[in-house]
Amino acid sequence: MDEKERENRGLALDRRTFLRSGAAVGALAAGAGAARAEGEPDPLITEVQYWANGWGDGVDASPYGLPIEFESDVIRRNVPWLTADVISSINFTPIHALDGTITPTGCAFERHHSGAIELKKEDYRLMINGLVDQPLVFTYEDLERFPRVNRTFFLECAANSGMEWAGAQLNGVQFTQGMIHNMQYSGIPLRTLLEEAGLSNIGDIKDKWVYVEGADASSNGRSIPLEKALDDCLVAIKANGEALRKEHGYPVRLCVPGWEGNMWVKWLRRIEVTDQPVQSREETSKYTDTLADGTSRKWTWVMDAKSVVTSPSPQMPITHGKGPLVITGLAWSGRGAITQVDVSLDGGKSWKVARLAEPGVAMAMSRFYLEIDWQGEEMFLQSRAHDDTGYVQPTKTQLRAIRGENSVYHNNAIQTWWIKSNGEAENVEVS
Ligand code: MTE
Ligand code: CO
Repeated sequence: MDEKERENRGLALDRRTFLRSGAAVGALAAGAGAARAEGEPDPLITEVQYWANGWGDGVDASPYGLPIEFESDVIRRNVPWLTADVISSINFTPIHALDGTITPTGCAFERHHSGAIELKKEDYRLMINGLVDQPLVFTYEDLERFPRVNRTFFLECAANSGMEWAGAQLNGVQFTQGMIHNMQYSGIPLRTLLEEAGLSNIGDIKDKWVYVEGADASSNGRSIPLEKALDDCLVAIKANGEALRKEHGYPVRLCVPGWEGNMWVKWLRRIEVTDQPVQSREETSKYTDTLADGTSRKWTWVMDAKSVVTSPSPQMPITHGKGPLVITGLAWSGRGAITQVDVSLDGGKSWKVARLAEPGVAMAMSRFYLEIDWQGEEMFLQSRAHDDTGYVQPTKTQLRAIRGENSVYHNNAIQTWWIKSNGEAENVEVS
């Protein structure tokens, strides 16, 4: 842009104005971390920069957008020693670097038992059979012709925070709490499809089940009480407004709001109405909680209220020095809406009520903020969620008193970050 063009656009500025106000600008910039002597003008303000000196990219440079290259570290990551290979594996959402509540689908975690399959809409079939009046098979196009709803839900893998039962282990909220995502789904209530097949001969729904399975080799079959299936389960065809990613079950996945992620069958291919649970692998030897005495607690479906501070945290140290600090994090409950989140700076001795960015939504994530004046003191930072059933997120000590240390799944304990005076953070436990 030449001087004339700047003038035309009303951007003509007297350079001396900048130089005169250099001291004030310098002081501000120094506060923001720029290393420059006081009074020196800031070339980012006084000089025309290359990005303002020519064309940017055209509108066809990226027909489907990716994050700008400067954000290339905001990606899913995995823990190599956690699973045998990357096909039957898990990765983690970079929740430390996100804000708001909706997880961008591109960086949302994935868990596959036999790899992500490629299933075309044309090849898609959904069968409903078993104790229905009329077994039915739906194509993708059939599904599109049923009335749809939009709902936002979190999906948390039962194994989220599983490595932390015996002690603080992984240094990063992405790894300790990142087996979670929160998306807006568009789909057909499962109730609508079950009623289409007819449930007139079913009798008491309280002792009936649906067995749901996916089209992948693992099939990931799970039994779900018919009552839940008729209540709020969704057969989703879109997430965050667009087609599901292949890895999230394209073209169709099941949403089981508030319940463990394993039940959210991807590449959904069959729903059988039964009069008993199938006792599949996924609901017996896996996703079952081993208690202190070695016995197993049967079926923990609901994900209890949980929260975590996402920043500051080990991957998000404080780099701006003393003064205003924004503490933020996420909270969710499989039993209902988040009503309150407390934050402790001293390892749970005292609590402040954080600010919820928006009123809590049942079975969806809430974002909380607490703004403090940080003077470089060490902190043992924690958050504690409350939901609308009155449930309060437990400490690790409280959880272990009931569950012991043999568990892998369903760890919703309070997380502690030790914030050091240099702003770095570490995953620790306080007793
Ligand atoms: N569905 C099928 N068909 N196959 C699978 O491997 N994994 C389950 C569930 N549904 C799985 C599946 C598990 S354990 C979880 S936690 C969620 O899907 C993960 O969903 P995501 O990959 O969209 O994050
Ligand atoms: Co899982």
